[in-house]
Amino acid sequence: MTTLAPRRRTVAVVLAGGTGQRVGLAIPKQLLKIAGKSILEHTLCVFENSPEVDEIIVLMAADHTAEVERIVERAGLGKVSRVLPGGSTRSETTSIAIRHLSEGLAEGEDVSLLFHDAVRPLLSQRVVKECVESLERYQAVDVAIPSSDTIIVTRTHGIDGEFITEVPDRSRLRRGQTPQGFHLSTIRQAYERALADPSFEATDDCSVVIKYLPHVPVHVVMGDEYNMKVTQPVDVFIADKLFQLASSTAPVPAGEESYREALTGRTVLVFGGSYGIGADIARLAEGYGATVYALGRSTTGTHVENPEHIEAALAKAYAETGRIDYVINTAGVLRTGRLADTDADTIREATEVNYVAPVNIARASYKYLAESHGQLLLFTSSSYTRGRSEYSLYSSTKAAVVNLTQALAEEWAEDGVRVNCVNPERTATPMRTAAFGQEPAGSLLSSETVARSALDVLLSRMTGHVVDVRQQDPASAQSGFDRAIASVLSQQETQGL
Ligand code: CTP
Repeated sequence: MTTLAPRRRTVAVVLAGGTGQRVGLAIPKQLLKIAGKSILEHTLCVFENSPEVDEIIVLMAADHTAEVERIVERAGLGKVSRVLPGGSTRSETTSIAIRHLSEGLAEGEDVSLLFHDAVRPLLSQRVVKECVESLERYQAVDVAIPSSDTIIVTRTHGIDGEFITEVPDRSRLRRGQTPQGFHLSTIRQAYERALADPSFEATDDCSVVIKYLPHVPVHVVMGDEYNMKVTQPVDVFIADKLFQLASSTAPVPAGEESYREALTGRTVLVFGGSYGIGADIARLAEGYGATVYALGRSTTGTHVENPEHIEAALAKAYAETGRIDYVINTAGVLRTGRLADTDADTIREATEVNYVAPVNIARASYKYLAESHGQLLLFTSSSYTRGRSEYSLYSSTKAAVVNLTQALAEEWAEDGVRVNCVNPERTATPMRTAAFGQEPAGSLLSSETVARSALDVLLSRMTGHVVDVRQQDPASAQSGFDRAIASVLSQQETQGL
């Protein structure tokens, strides 16, 4: 019988020692908030959620380590073992990490390290996995993508500026990203030699290995176009848009036991709970031991357009159970047609049910959710990403719900209240059948699938997210960003809902 050698321990080293001069803000750019979380927290979450990573250390700009400790504590990032002050250059920060990790090593032990720029928050799980796998075979690994631009080499001629001296063959050029991975013993040796060299200078770690340990091959893993480094002011804008588009990585489906553990003894209110997705959420949550108030026009006479109905429903649930943990709103109306032909009543109904109601539900729920550190869960539609002909009211109100989710996630983060939004693909619901008639079996998601994803969001730690629920397996090879980009492209092609 053969026994497999135990996998080498993997430590993610998050380099956050820089101050981000080029973005030019008063705080280091890694503390900027995007989609409800700092850039650094997004990055830490990638490693926290990676089964390949055992431990994380953070090297932070010296004046801001306490802030990182707070982020780690609040987000419950259990893999973060140390937050250390970084150095004055990126290489100095790397060598501090190497020194720290070497001190904790047992005799003869080696670990795999992934050095990653804190300001690349869009790193995919695929890349992390492939880097760790590569380190099983090689001592060093880099991540890179082909260059779509032609790269030129220039020389400066005094006041006349720059002139081209060379145009390298583009097919062999790659743009380097991070992580860069190494066996600790390898990168330590490379740095020992580099630090003994008075002319040493580097902006990344693979170049240190190439220069000082030229016999060590550095394997290259294919990166992702969106694994961008937030460097210039425009990058903050692009990263923000990418997160808005696809802060959608669906949480890992929880098992039966976790649903039961998380929902037993909890109070759940579902507005729009009398049929469709809302009714399925109510039924599932009740099955897992929650006390559920399924509220609907036809069943409990609750009209979401009426703030008094909302307040009364919340007050009743609180009086009866002493707590409110989750408030969900699935109520919505689909009114289509050209705006010029739409009457005032239809406009009022669509905006009140789809937009003003979530606002009022959020406002009235806040005090209860702040007490329980609970969650508000709203629903949008895939049409929110782009308004289109004949769906002006529907897609614009659904876009407003996304914006509301992001704003409230930020406003309520300090109170421990999470706010998320589910974006289901075409789903078999009475509302959809009324609008589109019978559609081919298999072309629609079942409302139970969507309801289960909603429970997964309730159980996750995420906040400020728009979670896409799609027919394909969310754990498939495509990352959330790939899927979101594919979805925008296909919507433009089909103009479908
Ligand atoms: N970094 C570091 N220690 C330093 C400098 C940089 O850990 N002394 C980290 C940054 O925090 C960042 C990554 O290395 O995550 C890439 O750095 P880069 O964005 O190029 O540099 P910054 O110093 O952050 O920005 P700028 O050059 O605009 O000041």
